[in-house]
Amino acid sequence: MENPVEPVIVAIDGPSGTGKSSTSRAVAARLGLSYLDTGAMYRAITWWMLGNGVAVDDPVAVADQAGKPVIVSGTDPGAPTITVDGVDVSVPIRSQEVTAAVSAVSAVPEVRARLVEMQRAAAAAPSAAAGIVVEGRDIGTTVLPDATVKVFLTASAEARAARRSVELKGAVTVADTQAALIRRDAADSGRKTSPLAKAADAIEVDTTELNLEQVVEHVVALVREKQPAAAPAAAAVEETTPR
Ligand code: DC
Repeated sequence: MENPVEPVIVAIDGPSGTGKSSTSRAVAARLGLSYLDTGAMYRAITWWMLGNGVAVDDPVAVADQAGKPVIVSGTDPGAPTITVDGVDVSVPIRSQEVTAAVSAVSAVPEVRARLVEMQRAAAAAPSAAAGIVVEGRDIGTTVLPDATVKVFLTASAEARAARRSVELKGAVTVADTQAALIRRDAADSGRKTSPLAKAADAIEVDTTELNLEQVVEHVVALVREKQPAAAPAAAAVEETTPR
């Protein structure tokens, strides 16, 4: 059956701790769209490199192996999945070890070329016929430059560290978390190949003083402004939400 409405492509970029994942999943669920976490893909390839004894600080060694792991992302926002060579890696890719190594691995052009191709394929897949919300660092600038709506989330370093610290259940101090976030942002923004950057036509949303629901409402409103016919699920939610 032909879809009369153009697929809605929502690009959500920004540094860590700005609420990208929670926002992207909720926006996708509300609008009936697919969801892709590209950070999880970079984490998955990093997990594979570490497990296979590849020196993650050696770009030549990483580039050499970049084509080997088979990474599959499930794009249901209600239950996103990620596997490497058939193994569910959704938990181990969040480890400190992977977090510490992911910026180096994701800076390798061969890694990016491979994952960007997979990300574009996910956005064009029949399962994403209604559209997709894709979160990352370079979605609006490089992966999907023709996205319907581009959002760049920001928040103060203090707010980002406090949120991450809650996620880590206090295992690391807020001060250490903040220092690690700043280091990772600098590495992600400073790399040569498609760095973390706000696209010229992206709308910046500062989430420091907003709760999740407020950010989601804001992004849903931006999508509906651009493509009113593409957001019937949002209308249904609003009608049943008490004011
Ligand atoms: O969103 P996250 O913290 O799970 O992302 C992990 C790392 O992956 C991040 O430090 C940079 C990298 N990344 C990237 O280079 N490009 C993307 N589109 C997404 C993530």
